[in-house]
Amino acid sequence: ELLNILVIVGSLRKESTTLKMANFLLTLVPTYLNLEIIKIGDLPLYNEDLETDHPPIEWVEFRKRIKKGDGILFLTPEYNRSVPAALKNAIDVGSAPHGYNVFDAKPTAIISLSTGSLGAFGANHHLRQSLVFLNMPAMQQPEAYIGESESVFNKEGKLIKDSTRGFLIKFMNSFELWIRQNIND
Ligand code: FNR
Repeated sequence: ELLNILVIVGSLRKESTTLKMANFLLTLVPTYLNLEIIKIGDLPLYNEDLETDHPPIEWVEFRKRIKKGDGILFLTPEYNRSVPAALKNAIDVGSAPHGYNVFDAKPTAIISLSTGSLGAFGANHHLRQSLVFLNMPAMQQPEAYIGESESVFNKEGKLIKDSTRGFLIKFMNSFELWIRQNIND
């Protein structure tokens, strides 16, 4: 059965390695996994004062799209040992207002990437902290910390590290199973 997996990318820059990874995953998975990247860059900063009868249209659209996902895949770089503010903002927007958390019960997984060797461990686990609170079953294994991320893709976004390809296939297989086990209709 077809699964809709929404991909949220924590970096906003055009040449982002994290975005390259997301685009690569789109080509990697079988056709019955429908991966879609959900843009977060133009979500207004979360402000409860805007939570009126007419909240910002970008928030409304974002919340609608997240609701339709069978699973959420987060791909994130690390900023100052945590997630980029844009990603935290998207999480805050989707979690509110109180009682309307659109992430509720959605199976999820995280791939974190960094140019250094630690693979954005800090961002990965800060993100997990929020996902636990949002009541999202977050896949524990395999973990995905992609270090030295600039060696994974070439300029054109082609994957040039074969061991990473094998790992990602395994990771996506596990995530598919995780979604099917935890899906909540
Ligand atoms: C970084 N970077 C970074 N890397 C890391 O491993 N740990 C960190 O805490 C940080 N902190 C940090 C803060 C800020 C403000 C920036 C702009 C960058 C480096 C980061 O890993 C690198 O820029 C990645 O290439 C960002 O991912 P994208 O944009 O290529 O997807």
